[in-house]
Amino acid sequence: MKKYLISAVFALLPMMSFAAVGVALDSVDLDPSDKTSLQLGATTYMDYCMGCHSLKYARYNRVARDLDIPEDEFRATLMHSDASFGSLMENAMPAKQSKVWFGITPPDLTLVARLRGNDWLYSYLRGFYADASRPFGVNNLVFKDVGMPHVLAELQGVCADKPQMGGHEDRGTHDDGCKKLAVEGTQTKEEYDETVYDLVNFLAYMGDPNKLERERLGWMVLLFLAVFWFISLLYTRELKKDIH
Ligand code: HEC
Repeated sequence: MKKYLISAVFALLPMMSFAAVGVALDSVDLDPSDKTSLQLGATTYMDYCMGCHSLKYARYNRVARDLDIPEDEFRATLMHSDASFGSLMENAMPAKQSKVWFGITPPDLTLVARLRGNDWLYSYLRGFYADASRPFGVNNLVFKDVGMPHVLAELQGVCADKPQMGGHEDRGTHDDGCKKLAVEGTQTKEEYDETVYDLVNFLAYMGDPNKLERERLGWMVLLFLAVFWFISLLYTRELKKDIH
């Protein structure tokens, strides 16, 4: 019994380390079938994140195809490099120098939605606030003393104090989040929530690009089983008739 208890504690350890963040998160309901949202998220990603964070387990052409963006349009509006269209989505951030600049090399984000979860990402990207004691003048509610600057500050502005989180988030209709801005941004609070929603939708797609297809196949399999079950039912009935 003791052995089982000990192994259960070890099995739960990774969960506990996440729970130890101790901050309530805003939750978000994503829609992987919303192509417009995914396209907007991809645009924000390529404009604001790709410079530091690669997506090196994905390829440009696959993303363009999944998101219904024609190659010439993808190249013109989303790709800020002349890499080949079939190549992996890498960037030119030098790992060694970036460690000096930020204290840590910005990690690849292809699988970050699976690692951190959608709610965490949604809260993290809306969780920056002014903190003069930090190198970039900001801290983050869900990632204390983070090494990343608030790269979306031009859109959101900079929150004067810790934002409030931990409720169900119906994009923009909620009443919590950042109460007061120290610096204004170009977007309203609702618009910024929408921008982050699209960005997280895109990162969730990145971490699980086959989700829609898998779900579609799942339904097909169930349908097949149901039809097959019905046929075998009829067949057994026929057989039983012969027995009597
Ligand atoms: C100027 C470089 C830079 C840019 C641009 C940037 N980041 Fe970061 N980001 C970092 C660094 C550095 C870290 C590591 C922070 C740490 O561990 O303290 C990081 C960490 C993260 C993490 C946490 C990863 C983890 O699991 O530890 C996420 C998520 C993230 N960034 C998302 C984004 C998104 C989304 C964008 C675009 C809106 C973006 N970043 C733009 C530098 C950047």
